[in-house]
Amino acid sequence: MIYLNNKLVPKGKAMVSVYDHGFLYGDGIYETLRVYDGVVFKLSEHIERLLNSASMIGLEVPKSPAAIKGAVYKTLSANKHKDAVVRITVSRGAGPLGLDPGLCPKPTFIIMTHAFKPYPRRSYQKGLSIAIVNTKRNYGKALNPQIKSLNFLNNILAKIEAKEMDVQEAIMLNYRGYIAEGTVSNIFFVRDSTLCTPSLKVGILGGITRSIILALARKNGIRLKEGQFKPVDLYEAQEVFISNTTMEVMPVHEINSRIISDTPGQITKKLRQDYNRAVRECIKGVKK
Ligand code: PDD
Repeated sequence: MIYLNNKLVPKGKAMVSVYDHGFLYGDGIYETLRVYDGVVFKLSEHIERLLNSASMIGLEVPKSPAAIKGAVYKTLSANKHKDAVVRITVSRGAGPLGLDPGLCPKPTFIIMTHAFKPYPRRSYQKGLSIAIVNTKRNYGKALNPQIKSLNFLNNILAKIEAKEMDVQEAIMLNYRGYIAEGTVSNIFFVRDSTLCTPSLKVGILGGITRSIILALARKNGIRLKEGQFKPVDLYEAQEVFISNTTMEVMPVHEINSRIISDTPGQITKKLRQDYNRAVRECIKGVKK
């Protein structure tokens, strides 16, 4: 079942107008969330980011945070999903052709849930192959990467390059040549016992997983540097990992054919364990 506007609709009947500006112009926003044992992880944070994205494009989400939470759980229970991925999409809605958002009186609101398909265990044991690609991350003053928008062509172009290079994630640099982020992930690396990650100012999405990892690193007294980094910093790293809601902490084995390490490094392993513990504690807390 799909939650479409105000009700649950069978998947085959969940249709959106060909005039929806989300379809015509990529005018809309979304969030991807992870569900562990029936509990949606960091639901409030994702709703906050959704509302923030919406406000940055002048889109009014037609539901309160409490109503969104209710609708997410209603959709999960209708689909009997326990370990799942949730996607919330809000588009500008249907209207005549033309870019003016005022042409669309009613946003389209959709919640989809899918059973979670785990990444292969081997990916976590060995790490992914990734590559810095030619496609640059959107210039933040042209399209702010903090807006998690339906307009994903920037990332799709990078993904096409990654596929051509036979790697699992593409890392984009910003317009000045500093490391930005992956197509669907943030990036971290360890050099000289310091955990480094591009700062938000580089022009990246403020990942919710990224914030949790930063907090865990601080708690562990791991030296931390958020800043501007060049590809050479990454090539010379002792450890590299990427993060997002579904992959969590995912080690990287090689980058542009340069081997980083054959097994995840100490800091990566520690943060992965701590992240998994934080998830378990959060789930337990919600279930009480
Ligand atoms: N993507 N950067 C980009 C460009 C992303 O699209 C994502 C998330 C992230 C990581 O954000 P978070 O830790 O909050 O998941 C970073 C999701 C998974 C997606 O597009 O489906």
